[in-house]
Amino acid sequence: MPQLKTTPQVQFTGPRGQEHMPYLLTPGPLTTSQGVKQAMLADWGSRDIEFRALVKDIRLSLLDLAGCDASHECVIVQGSGTFAIEAALGSLCPVAHGKTLVVVNGAYGERAAAILKKLGRPVVTLVKSDSEAPTADEVAAALEADKAITHVWVIHCETTSGIINPIQAIAKVAKDRGKIVMVDAMSSFGALPLPMVDWNIDVMVSSSNKCIEGVPGFSYVLCRRDLLIGSKGQSHSVVLDLHEQWTGLEKTGQFRFTPPTHALVAFHQALKEHAQQGGVAARGARYRRNAQVLIEQMCSMGFETLLSDEEAGPIIQTFLTPRDPNFDFEKFYEALRGRGFAIYPGKLTRRPSFRIGTIGQLDENVMRRAADAIRDVLKEMNVTDLTPLPA
Ligand SMILES: Cc1ncc(COP(=O)(O)O)c(C=O)c1O
Repeated sequence: MPQLKTTPQVQFTGPRGQEHMPYLLTPGPLTTSQGVKQAMLADWGSRDIEFRALVKDIRLSLLDLAGCDASHECVIVQGSGTFAIEAALGSLCPVAHGKTLVVVNGAYGERAAAILKKLGRPVVTLVKSDSEAPTADEVAAALEADKAITHVWVIHCETTSGIINPIQAIAKVAKDRGKIVMVDAMSSFGALPLPMVDWNIDVMVSSSNKCIEGVPGFSYVLCRRDLLIGSKGQSHSVVLDLHEQWTGLEKTGQFRFTPPTHALVAFHQALKEHAQQGGVAARGARYRRNAQVLIEQMCSMGFETLLSDEEAGPIIQTFLTPRDPNFDFEKFYEALRGRGFAIYPGKLTRRPSFRIGTIGQLDENVMRRAADAIRDVLKEMNVTDLTPLPA
């Protein structure tokens, strides 16, 4: 029997019921409903007619939710959100004639640019700090300065900070100049409006475990059909070839490779619940209320947010790390987790911070309970000075 070199730090105690799990105050995976969890209690065959009908239903529902018309297609890609991002960039961005402008104000913009570089695709960036939204004028100026740009990639909610970028205005200036507009709406789709046709968005990417409140397992690209058709043979990859994935789904209703059946069935249920609860408007309103209550409670303790209320979206909130020498994020995290709330570390480049997600099956009562737990933990850690650490 081979010996492990290190002893595992955490003892795995076997399957646990949800009652023993913390609320996930993170940007996904997130806390899901009972109905979504229950939907995963059956094993589906990926070739079954019923399963294929369910996949078709998901694809059509997503197009509907994104305000698409008959000119758009939905391609589901196995894997997390980054898989669909790489599939979209590698299938749709120019290889030689043309260039992609990536608008960067956080880690996810940086990652998109890094993928294009890795693929050897022409790319330029418009870089802002992670607490600053790019303006449409700045994007217009970048497009005027470099006429070789043909595609624009922009993030809707930059989850690094939670900031909401003005994608409608950015899409307009890009479209006025004849560019292809591609949006990473990973953490916002389903909670913030994104009418693709009305807002001139050609391509949009999101995933199963965000605001629709499904579980991780797949991501999807909504895309103009003519762009998909034109992308034949352009992908760098067999697995991430959007055109091939799409034609496979269209021809047989099946995936080319094993699909995450449970995640798809759960997502179908999540979409049903999303509609029953009032769609995008109601989902956005619940998350906004979560965010409002959390921020009020945190600020009343003395925490400061990175962003103003106008800049911050309802998805995730960034709080600046207090300067009190007794504050230690790892201890704070573990103590909160022990009280039933999992939060998220910071990802900013310049300011020490941590994040609390306000999406998933959570309401303002959960946010209040989380705030009570935070008060309790601060007391236990003897943290009294919540003035932020300097940048
Ligand atoms: C805006 C944005 N883009 C991309 C990603 C990457 O998604 P994944 O971690 O599922 O690959 C995330 C993840 O949170 C995100 O918020």
